Amino acid sequence: MFERIAIHGWLCWALYLLAAGVTLTSESHRLCPQPCRCNTMLLEANCSDRQLNTVPDSLPQNIKLLNLTRNKIKTLVQQQFKALPQLLHLDLSDNELVFIEVEAFLGLQNLINLRLTHNHIKIIPVGAFAGMPKLKSLDISDNEILLFLDFTFCDLPALQYLTAVDNDIVFISHQALTGLTSLEELHLDGCNLTAVPTQALTQLSRLRSFHFYRLGIATLPNYSFRNLDYLKELVISHCPWLKMISGNSLFGLNLTSLTITHSNLSAVPYIPLQHLVYLVFLDFSFNPITYIHGNKLGGLLRLQELRLVGGSLLCIETGAFRGLSYLRLLNVSGNLLTTMEIGAFQSVDTLRTLGLDNNPLECDCRLLWLARRRPNLDFGGNSLTCATSVHFHGLNFLDLEEDELSGLLTCRHPRILNRKSQETRVDQGHTVMFYCTAEGDPAPSVTWLNPQLKPVSPTGRIWVLSNGSLEIRYAQPQDSGTYLCVASNAAGNTSLPVSLHVQAFPKSSRNPSRLKGWFVPQGINGNQQLPFDFKTLLVAATIGFISFFSSVSVCFIFMFFWSKSKGQIKHTATIAYVPRSTMTSGKGGSGNHTETSRFTMKLI
Ligand SMILES: *[C@@H]1O[C@H](CO)[C@@H](O)[C@H](O)[C@H]1NC(C)=O
Ligand SMILES: *[C@@H]1O[C@H](CO)[C@@H](O)[C@H](O)[C@H]1NC(C)=O
Ligand SMILES: *[C@@H]1O[C@H](CO)[C@@H](O)[C@H](O)[C@H]1NC(C)=O
Ligand SMILES: *[C@@H]1O[C@H](CO)[C@@H](O)[C@H](O)[C@H]1NC(C)=O
Ligand SMILES: *[C@@H]1O[C@H](CO)[C@@H](O)[C@H](O)[C@H]1NC(C)=O
Ligand SMILES: *[C@@H]1O[C@H](CO)[C@@H](O)[C@H](O)[C@H]1NC(C)=O
Ligand SMILES: *[C@@H]1O[C@H](CO)[C@@H](O)[C@H](O)[C@H]1NC(C)=O
Ligand SMILES: *[C@@H]1O[C@H](CO)[C@@H](O)[C@H](O)[C@H]1NC(C)=O
Repeated sequence: MFERIAIHGWLCWALYLLAAGVTLTSESHRLCPQPCRCNTMLLEANCSDRQLNTVPDSLPQNIKLLNLTRNKIKTLVQQQFKALPQLLHLDLSDNELVFIEVEAFLGLQNLINLRLTHNHIKIIPVGAFAGMPKLKSLDISDNEILLFLDFTFCDLPALQYLTAVDNDIVFISHQALTGLTSLEELHLDGCNLTAVPTQALTQLSRLRSFHFYRLGIATLPNYSFRNLDYLKELVISHCPWLKMISGNSLFGLNLTSLTITHSNLSAVPYIPLQHLVYLVFLDFSFNPITYIHGNKLGGLLRLQELRLVGGSLLCIETGAFRGLSYLRLLNVSGNLLTTMEIGAFQSVDTLRTLGLDNNPLECDCRLLWLARRRPNLDFGGNSLTCATSVHFHGLNFLDLEEDELSGLLTCRHPRILNRKSQETRVDQGHTVMFYCTAEGDPAPSVTWLNPQLKPVSPTGRIWVLSNGSLEIRYAQPQDSGTYLCVASNAAGNTSLPVSLHVQAFPKSSRNPSRLKGWFVPQGINGNQQLPFDFKTLLVAATIGFISFFSSVSVCFIFMFFWSKSKGQIKHTATIAYVPRSTMTSGKGGSGNHTETSRFTMKLI
């Protein structure tokens, strides 16, 4: 029996020496404590899931990894681990930790990785992390931490990676992150923060990657990130309230990767991006963005990947990616796009990957370029189907043969219906409407050019209605001329001229009802209908004001003399009263109350 144990022990040691390749020293070799399983070769102690209430004593002194996950440990006392100077990895996740005493980890001189996730820690006392000069990675996610006090992390000069998501942090004090001079990556949760901890972040001069989740603010303020010269990657995600990125909010950053996803942006924040000329990767997925406008992203000279998956994109305008000569990947799958025109790109030669699936695509000549470039493009294995065409209902048009394509991906030139000449003469002040409806495939857009051949705006006195009609309200002689309706689609354009002649104000306006009840100031001389002219009104008003002012002045003078005649004016009045409480309750000494129940008022 005794011999067997001895043989067994020797066998273990032999294996240990083989594996670790170190010489046996005279250090005392403690046994593995009862509930844990130790791997003496790998120098690991696994005490996971053992219903432990405290950290077991007498762990082998030479272990490098200690797994204490899924136990019931509630507190860590001072110098809890001082007997484990060799420990490299310590995992205390999934316990019931509420409190960590100051210097709880003192003595873990070699520790590089500490995990405290999924506990109930509410506060981390300053000094809790003392004595771990080599710690590189700290995970305190999924606790109930409310605030980071000044100098909480000041003892961790080697820390490179800190993650603190899923906490209830309401406040990060200005010096909280001081001392993290090596920190390269930070993951924070902003759901209970009311502001970006700009001041605290300025301490992180080596930060390269910052992930900010669940930020509970609506606007990312100007100058949110200062002194972060090395920051290359910024991720802001799951911020359902975030609607706006202020113009200067990213000022001072030189990012290569920017991600703002799962938020409430309804437009691409072009202005804040402008200066990010080194940006390579941009992701605005899962935001209700509706348009990528033309010629607005040109500053992002080095951009290679752009993702806007799962948004509300209706249109990517012509020239949207102009200037982006290195764009390699575009993923806009899961939007409301009806097409993707080649004119959006600077050059499609660089494009390698295109995500366009799950969009209600209209299959016509606008997608012909795409079908032709099939061999050079990676569609991520997704099929592209047409939402409208009867020919290809549910058909992946990437599967079609070349000759089928050019026959099926076609467009029809626009045609203006009812091409009868519209020539209208009206009197000044009347409202005129010109109609222009067009058909074609794809449905053409209708624009109007004024007699100066400038596009008519969709607002104003002369405007284009949503159905394409041109309305000119209260026509003026200078509105006369030839207007041009232009219907255009991918296949080309066609136009229809209409002419308008507005006669200067007539002698008598025969039909005032045509003004539809609007009062239109047309200039003074035109309004003979009115009972008085402007001059009469002015005189009447002046007389009224003069009489009002004179009566008021007489009143004041009278009051002045009257007050003089009354002699000395008292400026204060003293009012004494008997408080009700002393009347009702008999016990109060009423003598001193009469002294205080008196106040003085100043009269003005
Ligand atoms: C440690 O123990 C737990 C529970 O017994 C087990 O699930 C886990 O795989 C072990 N880990 C290692 C590294 O052996
Ligand atoms: C933090 O925010 C979460 C979600 O918004 C909320 O459930 C929780 O009560 C907040 N905690 C505090 C301490 O405000
Ligand atoms: C941010 O800065 C821009 C440019 O200076 C300014 O126009 C804007 O009003 C500022 N926004 C806020 C919220 O202060
Ligand atoms: C997102 O923005 C829209 C419109 O700007 C607003 O109606 C909606 O309430 C916002 N959502 C949240 C969660 O704030
Ligand atoms: C910005 O970053 C790029 C690469 O990430 C670097 O080459 C460039 O020098 C940086 N510019 C400044 C002003 O720091
Ligand atoms: C686009 O992104 C979605 C979601 O991340 C992914 O499933 C899809 O494969 C991507 N498409 C391409 C072409 O990379
Ligand atoms: C366009 O809309 C206006 C106002 O809604 C209407 O008066 C006009 O008849 C419409 N035009 C056509 C061609 O339907
Ligand atoms: C209409 O098409 C011609 C060429 O066919 C082009 O020169 C012109 O710019 C187009 N006009 C508009 C308004 O699109």
